[in-house]
Amino acid sequence: MRLGVTNQKGGAGKTTTTLNVAGALNQRGHDVLVIDLDPQGHATEGLGFEDLYDDPDRDSLFDVLPDLDRMGDLEQLAVEHQEVDVVPSHERMINAEDELANVMKREERLDMLFNESDADQRWDYILVDCPPNLGVLTDNAIVATGNVLIPAQAKSTSIRAIELLFKQLRSIESAFGDVDEVGLVANEVGVDGEAEEMMEWFKDIFEDRENCEVFEIRKRVALQRAWNAGVSIFEHEEDCDMEEVYLDVAEHLEDYADD
Ligand SMILES: Nc1ncnc2c1ncn2[C@@H]1O[C@H](COP(=O)(O)OP(=O)(O)O)[C@@H](O)[C@H]1O
Ligand SMILES: [Mg+2]
Repeated sequence: MRLGVTNQKGGAGKTTTTLNVAGALNQRGHDVLVIDLDPQGHATEGLGFEDLYDDPDRDSLFDVLPDLDRMGDLEQLAVEHQEVDVVPSHERMINAEDELANVMKREERLDMLFNESDADQRWDYILVDCPPNLGVLTDNAIVATGNVLIPAQAKSTSIRAIELLFKQLRSIESAFGDVDEVGLVANEVGVDGEAEEMMEWFKDIFEDRENCEVFEIRKRVALQRAWNAGVSIFEHEEDCDMEEVYLDVAEHLEDYADD
């Protein structure tokens, strides 16, 4: 199963969700690939590969995506982490949007890379951590996966972001085929009235969709400390009560993949 973790709003919880859902899938015995599509490389750093981010000699998606001759090269971009395999970001990725602007099938390059690299045979789950904008890289993630998991803060400012994202998803769908919303991960949910109202809104909007579920992650310093330590909360030394929620997300993805 391929999954894009997306919301163009910064700080929505994309990277935290990607790394910990990936950790949960690994706990449940799956082979997982994490693609860091964000030029800022937060997932790369959160998995302990900051050295690769500015290594001038290392190939990255920046080199591969614009080059049709390299669509079979996914595996050579991947590095091994103790929990998952990772395609790290790279500082050159900041120029990837420009580089892709004038190539044909520019929104389909990641899909082609997955297909021509037999990625679905190699990994059970591929998670793509998206950048915080609705540019051509995010389009690539959505087209390549056809499934999105949407993290969002339980704040009223998330409403507009999600409405814009839906517009983008429907427009991609009309050009490239089905896109399914698999779930909404409400992130850093507090105990105030605004959070409560937003949880109602999320449930109204998302639970009406077929097979789509709403999950609730609270604010926990353990999540930040795990990121600092280069692992998910599952491999981090301290126990965290949010592990259970990420395992629920993983189980939901298993059910989804079976359908
Ligand atoms: N549930 C949470 N509890 C505590 N800190 C969190 C939580 N979710 C995210 N954070 C922190 O908030 C910041 C933004 O989260 P991040 O996942 O990087 O968002 P995005 O990838 O959407 O920009 C990070 O510093 C992260 O460690
Ligand atoms: Mg991020």
